[in-house]
Amino acid sequence: MAERVVVVGAQWGDEGKGKVIDILSEKADYVVRYQGGNNAGHTVVVGEDELILHLIPSGILHKGKVCVIGNGVVIDPEALKAEITYLESKGIKINNNLRISDCAHLIFPYHKVLDKLREEKFSRTKIGTTGRGIGPCYTDKFSRNGIRIADLLNKRVFREKLEANIEEKNAIFRKVYKYKTFSFKKIFRQYSDFAEEIKPYVCNCSLLLNQAIKEGKKILFEGAQGTLLDIDHGTYPFVTSSNSTAGGACVGTGIGPNKIDKTIGIVKAYTTRVGEGPFPTEFSEKLMNKIRSIGKEFGATTGRPRRCGWFDAVIVRHAVCINGLDTIVVTKLDVLDMMPSLKICVGYSYKGKLYDNFPSDIEVLWKAKPVYEELPGWQQSTKGIKEFSALPKNAHVYLKRLEQLVGAKIEIVSIGSERTQTLFV
Ligand code: GDP
Ligand code: IMO
Ligand code: MG
Repeated sequence: MAERVVVVGAQWGDEGKGKVIDILSEKADYVVRYQGGNNAGHTVVVGEDELILHLIPSGILHKGKVCVIGNGVVIDPEALKAEITYLESKGIKINNNLRISDCAHLIFPYHKVLDKLREEKFSRTKIGTTGRGIGPCYTDKFSRNGIRIADLLNKRVFREKLEANIEEKNAIFRKVYKYKTFSFKKIFRQYSDFAEEIKPYVCNCSLLLNQAIKEGKKILFEGAQGTLLDIDHGTYPFVTSSNSTAGGACVGTGIGPNKIDKTIGIVKAYTTRVGEGPFPTEFSEKLMNKIRSIGKEFGATTGRPRRCGWFDAVIVRHAVCINGLDTIVVTKLDVLDMMPSLKICVGYSYKGKLYDNFPSDIEVLWKAKPVYEELPGWQQSTKGIKEFSALPKNAHVYLKRLEQLVGAKIEIVSIGSERTQTLFV
């Protein structure tokens, strides 16, 4: 493993980052989340057990790794506590294997309610969020009235900031949403208790990681969501509220860009997305139901059915560019095993114009017709295959074509959710 590696989703999330991070974690010393919050759902299958992580880096499943929640992450204390309890119930001890940046922002109950009310009441551009308060928390961060872990640990500062926030939010709830208000006392008490519980984990993330870099430690940066959900480079406004792309790893942890050695993009062999927004290669109903059922395409966080479609080389090429991807990992190839033929989108056509680069104009994304190439399927099971070279010929042809179209080499192919179902190229 290169010294410092960033792993990102190269589509709309749920590409199988959890599985790949789990495998790569074995060789890492540190595993670090740098953005997003418990909107993420990263699945790791260990034998009979399926574990889903939302906030804590997936490296936690390996002994002896330091897992860090960076400053770019937003933390819901309730979700963090529930995740610690969940992991402990699975026999994973949380102690000095977890560190939390003192600059990470906190999600408050009013963020979660605002998230839901905005979607319900002013739903002209309903985004289909996870309802975890992510957007409103980042809104407060960028409008400079957010509350960070360091504030929480200073009772006087915390009291002042929370009072100001609750006063403003309650006025909005009353006047705009005709919704009940929040009690300062109750939240202050709850969060002060939380402060005591997390104190042992709190760190200066930038210092910790820069020291680790000096010592030559191996660091894995675990991206959440996917490139097309990035606030700047995704299908705005149908995105999440953070930089889920590789650049986010630097600002979300406090290390310099020259400290990153490699970026890896995780790509599903087809495409999925949860929530609203344009999806040019989305299947029609019959194929949608088929792939959703074979691929078990239901959200790991909200349980919502995922929308499914053909592989879209336009968006993955965009991801290769935005993240500077050195290599890609193709997951869920096995889901396509029995397909007689496979389509790959190589461009979009709209009003007589051909787009082979990702268009920023949301109207083009909504209305464009995908231009497809069609390749024959392999129509045999790949699930038990042990070597990359043993994949069926047409699977090789499909993967080779994906490489050519997106402009990055495939490093790993995944043919099942288990650790053993992983083929190194
Ligand atoms: P993440 O958010 O990117 O970590 O992905 P999710 O965990 O939300 O969704 C990926 C799903 O696909 C999980 O249920 C994984 O167990 C599963 N998975 C990962 N790789 C493969 C694969 O190669 N084949 C199959 N069939 N399932 C996979
Ligand atoms: P992982 O890390 C898939 C989607 C939501 C919604 C949009 C905004 O498991 O890949 P938010 O709650 O973030 O404000 O919702 O982003 N979304 C995800 N989709 N996987 C995720 O995470 C996602 N996290 C957010 O469905 O469309
Ligand atoms: Mg997921």
